[in-house]
Amino acid sequence: MLRNVTDLYRGNREVLRETYIPSRLPHRERQIQQVAEVLAPVLRGDVPSNLLIYGKIGTGKTAVVAQVRQDLQRRTDLPSQVSFITVNCGNLDTAYSLLQTIGNTFAATEAERIPTGWSLDRVQASMRQLLDARGGIRILVLDEIDRLVARSGDGVLYTLSQLNTELQSARLILVGISNDLKFTNNLDARVRSRLNEEKILFPPYDAPQLQDILKERSREAFKDGVVDAGVIERCAAYAALENGDARRALALLRLSAEMAERDRAKRITSDHVVRAKSRLEQDIIVECCRTLPPHCKVLLYAILQSFERRRERRDGVLTGEVYESYTKLSVRLGLQPLHARSISNYLSELENLGLIRATIVSRGRGGRTREIVVDVPLNETLPALEEDPLLAPLGRPRPSGQRLLTNFDNPNRSGPTI
Ligand SMILES: Nc1ncnc2c1ncn2[C@@H]1O[C@H](COP(=O)(O)OP(=O)(O)OP(=O)(O)O)[C@@H](O)[C@H]1O
Ligand SMILES: [Mg+2]
Repeated sequence: MLRNVTDLYRGNREVLRETYIPSRLPHRERQIQQVAEVLAPVLRGDVPSNLLIYGKIGTGKTAVVAQVRQDLQRRTDLPSQVSFITVNCGNLDTAYSLLQTIGNTFAATEAERIPTGWSLDRVQASMRQLLDARGGIRILVLDEIDRLVARSGDGVLYTLSQLNTELQSARLILVGISNDLKFTNNLDARVRSRLNEEKILFPPYDAPQLQDILKERSREAFKDGVVDAGVIERCAAYAALENGDARRALALLRLSAEMAERDRAKRITSDHVVRAKSRLEQDIIVECCRTLPPHCKVLLYAILQSFERRRERRDGVLTGEVYESYTKLSVRLGLQPLHARSISNYLSELENLGLIRATIVSRGRGGRTREIVVDVPLNETLPALEEDPLLAPLGRPRPSGQRLLTNFDNPNRSGPTI
C-alpha cells in the first residue's frame, strides 16, 4: 500500500525553508557573540558603534543578525527606547524608498507618513523629524547594502552615517550586511570610515560544518530513520564546492525530500540527492537568467526563440540570425538595439555563465562565424524569461507540459558552470 506522502516529516516542513529561523546556528557561535558585543552598549542606554558584516552568500549573515536581534528583544533589561529596523536593500530601488521606509517606521498616524513624490531633501528632513520625535537608539540593519550602493550610489549612506550629528534626541546605528567583500573600496572615504567602525567577517562553511547544520535541521524536519546514510554528506559536499553556501545545502536537502515524496519513497536516498542536484541546477539557471541586464536578457530570449523554432534539430543558430532577431525584439520592446560589438560581448558573457556555447564555423567564402548552441532547458527558461516584466509583452501562451529538446537534455553536454 502507498504510504501517506507526509510520512517523511516530523511535523512542519517549513523547517527546511530559507525563511525559517532555527533556534541554533552551529558554527556561528563566535560571530553571534561578536555582533552581540558590538550592540551590547544599548543595554546600558549607550550608543554602539556602526557595524559592517561581510561574507560570501549563504554564510549565515542575515540569520546571525536576526538571532542577535531576537535575543536582545527578548531581554527584559533592554531599554524600551531601543529598537531595530531591518531593511532588505535588495528589494528597494532608490535612496528615496529607503529613507521613506525608515521614516514611516516611526509614523504614528497616516498623516505623518511620507508619501511618494516628494523631493529627496524633503523626505530626508521628514525622516529626521520622525526619528527625533520618538527619540531612543535605533539600530538600522541594512541587509544587502552593496546592492543599494550599486543601484543608487553611496549618497544615502553618507546621509545616514552623519545623521547623528543632526539628531537631537534620537541616535541611529548602522549595521550593514554585504556579500561583496570589496564593497567598501568604492565608498566615499568618510562613509567608509563611519561604516567600518566595527567589522566582522563571516568565513564560508566547509563540508563538515555544513553537515552539522544539515544534521540539526534534518533532526527537526524528518522522522527518525528517514534520511539514508550518505544523504547529508552528499548535500554538504556539493554545497561546500559551491562556496560553502548553507542556503544551497539546505535547498538540496529540501529538494531531495521532495523527490522522495514524489516517488512515495519511505526514505530519502543518495539517488534523490543526485536528482535534486540536477533540478536545483535548473532552478539556478532560471534565476541566473532573471538577473541578466536588460539587453542581455533580450539577446538570450532571441537565441532561445531561434532555437525553439528549430524544435528537435540539434544544430546551432548563427550569430547573424541571432543579431537580426535580437534587433527585431528590441524594436518591439521600444529599446534602442545595441551595436553588434556589444552583442558580441554579451554572447561571451552568456557563454561564461554556461547558458550557451558558441563554436567558430567556417562558411567557405562567407568567412567565419559563430554557431550558438543553447545549454539550458528551453521549457524552463523560456517561460521564466517571458514572466520578466521587460519581456512580458513578447510572451505567448504556452501549452502546459510542453517539452522541448535542447542540448541541455543531452547527458554528454558539458554542464553549466554556474
Ligand atoms: N550556522 C547555521 N546554522 C543553521 N542554518 C544556517 C546557518 N547559517 C546559515 N543557515 C541557513 O542558511 C540559509 C542562508 O543563510 P543566510 O540567509 O543567513 O545567509 P547570508 O550570509 O545572509 O547570505 P546572502 O549573502 O546570500 O544574503 C538560511 O536559511 C539560514 O537559516
Ligand atoms: Mg543575507
